[in-house]
Amino acid sequence: MKKILITGGAGYIGSHTAVELINSGFEPIIIDDFSNSQESVLDRLEEITGRKITCYQGDCADRSLLDQVAKDHQLSGVIHFAAFKAVGESTELPLKYYRNNLVSLIEIMEFMRDHKIQDLVFSSSCTVYGQPDILPVTEATPRKDAESPYGNTKKVCEDMLVDFVKSKPGIRVISLRYFNPVGAHPSGKIGELPQGKPNNLVPFVTQTAAGIREKLTVFGDDYDTPDGSCVRDFIHVMDLADAHVKALAYLDEKQNNFYDVFNVGTGKGDTVLQVIKTFEEVTNVKLNYEIGPRRPGDVVKIWADTKKINEVLGWYPKYSLADSMRDSWNWQKGL
Ligand code: WQD
Repeated sequence: MKKILITGGAGYIGSHTAVELINSGFEPIIIDDFSNSQESVLDRLEEITGRKITCYQGDCADRSLLDQVAKDHQLSGVIHFAAFKAVGESTELPLKYYRNNLVSLIEIMEFMRDHKIQDLVFSSSCTVYGQPDILPVTEATPRKDAESPYGNTKKVCEDMLVDFVKSKPGIRVISLRYFNPVGAHPSGKIGELPQGKPNNLVPFVTQTAAGIREKLTVFGDDYDTPDGSCVRDFIHVMDLADAHVKALAYLDEKQNNFYDVFNVGTGKGDTVLQVIKTFEEVTNVKLNYEIGPRRPGDVVKIWADTKKINEVLGWYPKYSLADSMRDSWNWQKGL
């Protein structure tokens, strides 16, 4: 059974990917410092999969810890999720973001080269596109100046991967550019666990519906979009998890020193107000929201062209926006 190291594997996307890896015959090995996740997620994963998942607590930038993992396990690949990802915080604490997000990837790359671990799937983001001039965005769409230090760390990480692969270290790499991850495992046992006040839309929707937040503010409805609110490509986290499994399978067929990048989105744009409407329809819960001022730095509209991942990886989304709202609400109710 192929062992795959998942950095940040107790986190939102990492934990759902751990489930899909097990369902596809891999053995996930998690490394997580629990700075933005909870150790109890490991128990939930055991309930879902029936398997106890090995987890090393610590910083994935700690090379001595990585070496210990490689001593204990014959790894065939790494999925690197661990990173700070709060857009707003990154503008207040840029150096914290550059140090953490860049140094951890550098440590992972050197670790893989030295231990001859072949396959790396890197968690990138559609934020590298900024506000695209042409929609939907393809992987060939020029990356723009990032709207935040967080977004820039993703761009720089992609550049580091390209340059590292060019130096022929003997690894095979795919960067997955996530659009907006939403939803939760259908069992309701794992989901998004924002620490403190959520930054992202859907946790704010579900916490408002649950009465944890008094009301949701829609950041602007005077944009050039169908209903004036921003457009995003909301992708169910289970579909996103499946894309990682398909990326590993694809790498298995490739020669060494391979690099490629794929958009992972539904290929469909929905507005913020459509998300709210869908949530209310699916849950029969009336959402208390108001229209507020625009949020600085917001991209007005973006959604993915998914032709490349469809044709090359054979990956297609299975879940709809309604499924995402149903699963997010099911998860929130269980918290
Ligand atoms: C989505 C839309 C908001 C909250 C960021 C990162 C991206 C990824 C996902 C990490 C926007 C609107 C939000 C609220 C609102 N993060 N909104 N009221 O900004 O598209 O992407 O998070 O990988 O890299 O850039 O996501 O969920 O913050 O916002 O109206 O209370 O919802 O204005 O239009 P975003 P988001």
